[in-house]
Amino acid sequence: MHIPDRLPSPAPASFRRPTVLLVLMGLLWTAQALSQPAPIQPIQLPKPQITAGLPLMQALAQRKTTRAFLDRPLPLQTLSNLLWAAFGVNRPRDVKPELGRTAPSAMNSQDIELDVVLAEGVYVYEAEANRLRPILAGDVRGKIGTEAATHAAVTIVYVANAKDDWAQVDTGFIGQNVYLFAASEGLNAWFYAFHGPEQTAVLKLPAEKHALYAQSVGYPPK
Ligand SMILES: Cc1cc2nc3c(=O)[nH]c(=O)nc-3n(C[C@H](O)[C@H](O)[C@H](O)COP(=O)(O)O)c2cc1C
Repeated sequence: MHIPDRLPSPAPASFRRPTVLLVLMGLLWTAQALSQPAPIQPIQLPKPQITAGLPLMQALAQRKTTRAFLDRPLPLQTLSNLLWAAFGVNRPRDVKPELGRTAPSAMNSQDIELDVVLAEGVYVYEAEANRLRPILAGDVRGKIGTEAATHAAVTIVYVANAKDDWAQVDTGFIGQNVYLFAASEGLNAWFYAFHGPEQTAVLKLPAEKHALYAQSVGYPPK
């Protein structure tokens, strides 16, 4: 039998320690990567349908606050219609160079940003491009409002510049558009104050911006 004159010697301790460290760092990185939500992409919304819905007087007759939702996403077309009704472009630049929107704003400042919270993440509504720009991946619906908002298909967070004196009024017009759209589509809607540093922190807003109100919209529970 051949006996090797010497067994392979273990790696010196000075070599082993960095290797172990590298493996641990690799494991840590993998665990972190796995716990991160999947990245989200911009969403190009379909052209809003502006011929659908109840006549205005009937929508007004149906408008109400309902604070419960079924956990089911809205079809992309309905989401597009909702956001257009809320604060979409109804007069493009060839009609009104600085754009016309479905809600008025003081001095046409178009100052309110709509942060759109869906189950897969948070997006900013870019009205002119009719697009949703991703700002945060992951389901934060349970962290930004109330128990019922956890299930709502969509929650619109109304974000303004901290120094904007007209933001409250301008948000109100948009909120009523959303209520009327929801009434017209048989959806539930709920407008509420957005307060608390924890909720604000979830959205990771820049220092000069703050969230004033939110409005959840979704299917009624069965
Ligand atoms: C500026 C404003 C703030 C509101 N804040 C809240 C709120 O923090 N929580 C809530 O449950 N509802 C809130 N609401 C909804 C009102 O309570 C609701 O509109 C009111 O009870 C009348 O009900 P209706 O919308 O069905 O007519 C708010 C409404 C407005 C206009």
